Amino acid sequence: MTNDRTARGTGFPEDFLWGCATSSYQIEGGANAGGRGRSIWDAFCREPGRVALGQSGDVACDSYRRWPEDVRLLAGLGVGAYRFSVAWPRVQPGGSGPANQAGLDYYSALVDALLAEGIEPWVTLYHWDLPLALGERGGWTDRDTAYRFADYAALMYDSLGDRVSHWTTLNEPWCSAFLGYEYGEHAPGLHDRRAALDAAHHLLLGHGLAVAAFRGSGLHGEIGLVINPATPRPATRREADVQAALRASVERTGLWLDPVYGRGYPEAYLAARGAAMPERPGDLELIASPIDFVGVNYYNEEAVVAAPPSAARPDGYSTAPTANARTEMGWDVAPQGLRRVLGFIAERWPVRALYVTENGAAYPDAEIRDGRARDVDRIEYYRGHISACADAIGDGAPLRGYFAWSLLDNFEWSHGYGKRFGLVSVDPMTMERRPKDSYYFYRDVIAGYME
Ligand code: FCB
Repeated sequence: MTNDRTARGTGFPEDFLWGCATSSYQIEGGANAGGRGRSIWDAFCREPGRVALGQSGDVACDSYRRWPEDVRLLAGLGVGAYRFSVAWPRVQPGGSGPANQAGLDYYSALVDALLAEGIEPWVTLYHWDLPLALGERGGWTDRDTAYRFADYAALMYDSLGDRVSHWTTLNEPWCSAFLGYEYGEHAPGLHDRRAALDAAHHLLLGHGLAVAAFRGSGLHGEIGLVINPATPRPATRREADVQAALRASVERTGLWLDPVYGRGYPEAYLAARGAAMPERPGDLELIASPIDFVGVNYYNEEAVVAAPPSAARPDGYSTAPTANARTEMGWDVAPQGLRRVLGFIAERWPVRALYVTENGAAYPDAEIRDGRARDVDRIEYYRGHISACADAIGDGAPLRGYFAWSLLDNFEWSHGYGKRFGLVSVDPMTMERRPKDSYYFYRDVIAGYME
């Protein structure tokens, strides 16, 4: 008999996990349905000038009502897993106190439907939609938010833990802390470095408390953290650029993985800011509660050169142009960067398993021919990055799975609906879902065929 896998030729182990990812605020809509409370994103979207065209996730893809269609689309892809997030304000509207049964029921029904299709639910506990009540008390700058997060996590373990095998605590905490509190692009939209550092620590504390609560629950399953690391990519071989690239990678990588793997905070990073983290005795032990895997969200990579430290960039670097193609986000297409970042993490930190928890691309709407969106650019993006995953496995990285971002065109945060990452388009008026060519491409990859 021929080796089926070799004959098909994708080069991935049989047990490699293929999945697709979304997040609650980006797809659910139903902002006022079923007793959902408000989140910091509901408020942020209403502030003039924050989001393109003043858009919001009020309706999004209406997945709060149309989730059975989404599950059918996932089944048609043949994915082994679906990574979605729970909207904390849907299940605990005030961010503390009583649970909202209608919210719990929504996720419970989704989980059951996924399992009935043989699709493993991968639950993200926090993908940025913090309950507004907590936001109004300082959000992640308030230490108490970490404890509220752990309580909410325990609520979700109670509700779904008998059926969910994989959990992640936080999605891209760098975005929550720095885009939210220092660079002003995400809710709550502040420009305050001290607030960002406080937020970073409290996010990590919340993560550690939630991992500890999971271990204490006696449930089976795995739990991890999803980050959006930056690869140290020097623009030249000059030693100054090599060092600058390493420094540039810290805020998105070592700042999270060092404390999670018990090494404390990177000292040079804090020294460059003349700052300390607001840690209390015992915090670092909690933050280092052992995790089962690290999720890597990868979209692009930047070339870095040394530069004099400035107030905005105290680490002394800046980015340089490359010849790479760009997606509609203006992000470089650098598929081998995915291989590099997986290798970088596997070399430096004792990760048990890695998953690519997001990867994908926004492009302008493709030409429709024979009733299908011919999104050739997106297919090429996926082809390159999926091949890079095979290369990373060949290099020895413990990569166990890959999730495409995203199942649906959705609400792309401050860009509104204008930037579309979906394998499936969503008509903004009728909510009709239509698979693009990339959907069929990815289905074929999962089935073992990549032409
Ligand atoms: C990531 C986010 C995800 C999506 C993609 C494009 O940073 O986790 O929600 O917006 O970028």
